[in-house]
Amino acid sequence: MPTMFQFTSRPKHLLLLSLFALSGLKNVSAAAGRERRSLNEDWRFSRFTSNPDSLSYDVLKEWMLPAANGFLSDGKKYERPSGTAPGSDVDYTQDDFDDSAWQQLDLPHDWAIAGPFDAPGVGGGPGRLPINGIGWYRHNLTIDADVVSSKKSVFLDFDGAMSYAAVWLNGELVGGWPFGYNSFRLDLTPYVKAGGNTLAVRLDNALDSSRWYPGAGIYRNLWLVTVDPVHVGQYGTFITTPEVSASEATVEIVVDVENKSNASQRVDVATEIYAVDPVSLKPAGEAVAAFSSSSVTVAGGEKQSANASATVTDPQLWGPPPTQKPNKYVAVTTLSSNGTAFDTYETVFGIRTIAYSANEGFLINGEHVRIFGTCNHHDLGAIGTAFNYRAAERQIELLQEMGNNGLRTSHNPPAPEWLELADRFGMLVLDELFDAWRNPKVDNDFSRIFDDWYEPDMRNFIRRDRNHPSIIAWSIGNEIPEQSNAQGGETGKLLQDISHEEDPSRLATTAMNSAGPNTALANEIDIIGTNYQGEGNGASFSSSWPNFHSTHPDKMIWSTESSSCVSSRGKYLFPVTPNKTAVVGNNPGQGGDGTNRHVSAYELYSPSWASSPDKVFEQHDRYPYVAGEFVWTGFDYIGEPTPYDSSRSSYFGIIDLAGFKKDRFYIYQARWRSDLPMAHLLPHWTWPGREGQTTPVHVFTSGDEAELFVNGESAGRKKRGQYEYRIRFDDVKYSPGSIRVVSYKNGAEWATAETKTVGDAVALNATADRTSIAGDGKDLSFVTVEVVDSEGSIVPEASNSITASIASGPGKIVSTDNGDPTDKTVFSEPTRKAFSGKFLAIVKTEKGASGDIVVEFQSDGLTAGSVTISAT
Ligand SMILES: *[C@@H]1O[C@H](CO)[C@@H](O)[C@H](O)[C@H]1NC(C)=O
Ligand SMILES: *[C@@H]1O[C@H](CO)[C@@H](O)[C@H](O)[C@H]1NC(C)=O
Ligand SMILES: *[C@@H]1O[C@H](CO)[C@@H](O)[C@H](O)[C@H]1NC(C)=O
Ligand SMILES: *[C@@H]1O[C@H](CO)[C@@H](O)[C@H](O)[C@H]1NC(C)=O
Ligand SMILES: *[C@@H]1O[C@H](CO)[C@@H](O)[C@H](O)[C@H]1NC(C)=O
Ligand SMILES: *[C@@H]1O[C@H](CO)[C@@H](O)[C@H](O)[C@H]1NC(C)=O
Ligand SMILES: *[C@@H]1O[C@H](CO)[C@@H](O)[C@H](O)[C@H]1NC(C)=O
Repeated sequence: MPTMFQFTSRPKHLLLLSLFALSGLKNVSAAAGRERRSLNEDWRFSRFTSNPDSLSYDVLKEWMLPAANGFLSDGKKYERPSGTAPGSDVDYTQDDFDDSAWQQLDLPHDWAIAGPFDAPGVGGGPGRLPINGIGWYRHNLTIDADVVSSKKSVFLDFDGAMSYAAVWLNGELVGGWPFGYNSFRLDLTPYVKAGGNTLAVRLDNALDSSRWYPGAGIYRNLWLVTVDPVHVGQYGTFITTPEVSASEATVEIVVDVENKSNASQRVDVATEIYAVDPVSLKPAGEAVAAFSSSSVTVAGGEKQSANASATVTDPQLWGPPPTQKPNKYVAVTTLSSNGTAFDTYETVFGIRTIAYSANEGFLINGEHVRIFGTCNHHDLGAIGTAFNYRAAERQIELLQEMGNNGLRTSHNPPAPEWLELADRFGMLVLDELFDAWRNPKVDNDFSRIFDDWYEPDMRNFIRRDRNHPSIIAWSIGNEIPEQSNAQGGETGKLLQDISHEEDPSRLATTAMNSAGPNTALANEIDIIGTNYQGEGNGASFSSSWPNFHSTHPDKMIWSTESSSCVSSRGKYLFPVTPNKTAVVGNNPGQGGDGTNRHVSAYELYSPSWASSPDKVFEQHDRYPYVAGEFVWTGFDYIGEPTPYDSSRSSYFGIIDLAGFKKDRFYIYQARWRSDLPMAHLLPHWTWPGREGQTTPVHVFTSGDEAELFVNGESAGRKKRGQYEYRIRFDDVKYSPGSIRVVSYKNGAEWATAETKTVGDAVALNATADRTSIAGDGKDLSFVTVEVVDSEGSIVPEASNSITASIASGPGKIVSTDNGDPTDKTVFSEPTRKAFSGKFLAIVKTEKGASGDIVVEFQSDGLTAGSVTISAT
């Protein structure tokens, strides 16, 4: 273990670590010798609910394990069994199998999102969608003759396949990788032939394999990498910045050179550093520094590393907005022999320092930055888990607008592009690997294969991600069943030791929802991560943080998971609890409507282990040494519909499944962007039948005082007290008209907001988040449709049925949603009801399209709405 992790007996509150950042190759590189091309297009697919091929993990395992060889500590290697491999006689792996009846599609693909809901055997946890079954994918892979004749190495790089992927080329089993969230590489070289090749992929998703919606299929990008037999290996660079000052930074690189050739050769390794274009991630301008070059000779079939260091003067540091900028660099590594370059490899990274302090919290580049984070599952709402860059970018944009500066990848590694986005937006990422270790949470989770795969999955995970500047710590597990016993401590140490070996520059944490300060795991883990232990537990204000802090005076503490407030956007239930937080239930004042399965949007209700945002904020303000929180969750997600298990999606999100902001968005924005003048009022003010009844009005503002006017008359001016995070006007009686708030900061007017009583629904008002999108069949426009009255104001409880259609132009409706957790209309359906006045349509172009797309929205009795989106 590196000495920097050995806490001395004298409290060393500041653990200064230098950091850097990401590796990543972009799309096809024309770079010397190396080609990386997308294999996403033109696949055939079929799903089987009962096993069509008599294969299984048990049968395939011995042929999958060799893929782990690169990720095992010395001495452990798996030999591929000799003889005929399984599957060579299965029809679907054969050249001549007629797949013309199978579904034709492009990757990334999530087979389960097509529905329908209430799939047999699938419970509320995984979202009642058909995630289970065996999925076969087939693709005609063309390989140029010179790739074969020049004996290039040919690799298949999966960013992720859900799950138990096994791959055949021309009927030969190549290998596979069970864990659906890790990226993996398979070596096709021994099996490729010039011309047409038949690639077949088998996925196997058991029921009870996940607590939430995992998706199903080859749900991330797939790449074919062709390189010289001597090349920079997979995840073959590791860049660190051990010393950083305003005037210069020391950058160190380790380059892994892999040799699959038979011929003798000496290789020169040279790397230059460039500024990087923030979006294309390509080098910009002249090199700003160069590493000293070195030479290596690597034995056949082996790897050898070449280390070098360089100095960057006037470094442009990577850091989170608004106080810092996420500047990046790219290192371009060239392998050459006798002056001829034959491999080029790009590594995007950032220069920064991070520090974890037991008393001060988290520091980056010397600045204390409180973690205002959210946890998010990997689904992208109505498009499921099939990775889409724009859908992920939109999520991060909305979160950043709220002041969210941290993201926890609950509970598994994200798509590589998601980390590129985090780097670009300056988000602080807690990258998490596992939801289970040796003991299961559900029967078919990772615990089934832990012993064989924990090490390769752990090393793979860290090597893939360790150059990303956004990542500030590794999470080795979430709410592990064995967290409180001796085994939890042992396994935690095993995993944490690997994280230190693979990345001495960051600490590890684990999300503990029950392990206390005196457990083996708490003793072992670098950073104390608590789920709800510091600020959850319903109405109780007793916190485990003081005990953790005194027991582990050298360790930083953070809330790896907090709040778990639940609500349905736009649904306000009366009476409203007078309390700061209340456990959700179906009785009056408990916030829940069990009949319609909605939870009140007053944002005060949570399950018993959890609490409102207000109570979480109070506890964080009482214990300021805690570094911050990752709220459960930023977005609603498919599955886990607590507290109403028969619904389709969660109630936890600050933002709903369609990407519409709940009221809760504004209580976070008020705290997390305290410099932004803003005020937000709830509830809506259209309550026919409630005249004269108590209808509490709550104000979320970044100001410290607010005056409420009901139909022009003051209902009082109130200051926000200590440990208060909303200004409550709980005695207001409803009468139609308007409510208006004027908020103040330090006595000066700061922000206002007004909500009016609206009339009947007369029209649809459609607005696209982007009216110009790329005509590549992948880029998306998210169109929000509001049901409005004659003045254009949203009708807050409207639930009119709306149909989206392409009136003209090369467009497609990908899916629709409304954020209603109870709506089981499949997402691909163009007709669904509005929920709380809103409807979403996700639109893309046909492949290779250009020109205008007119999208129309119709609803009986209402004036239609439309938007025009141009494909460029
Ligand atoms: C491969 O090509 C054959 C012949 O053109 C075609 O029948 C088959 O559907 C193709 N398979 C895939 C997966 O595209
Ligand atoms: C190395 O030699 C083996 C055995 O002759 C041959 O099959 C293989 O193609 C060679 N590899 C390269 C990269 O030349
Ligand atoms: C690769 O391995 C072969 C066989 O061991 C050896 O002859 C050759 O020199 C090695 N090449 C490099 C670049 O190390
Ligand atoms: C190269 O870097 C690796 C990994 O950090 C380290 O183990 C090794 O000692 C370094 N070698 C040299 C010569 O600096
Ligand atoms: C490099 O040059 C040396 C000396 O001229 C020669 O022996 C060797 O074959 C060359 N190697 C390659 C890969 O061209
Ligand atoms: C509010 O708090 C009071 C006093 O602790 C308690 O009796 C009541 O049940 C709470 N209300 C709700 C809705 O939880
Ligand atoms: C439609 O909604 C947008 C966005 O909320 C708003 O700016 C615009 O004024 C509305 N237009 C009409 C005609 O209601």
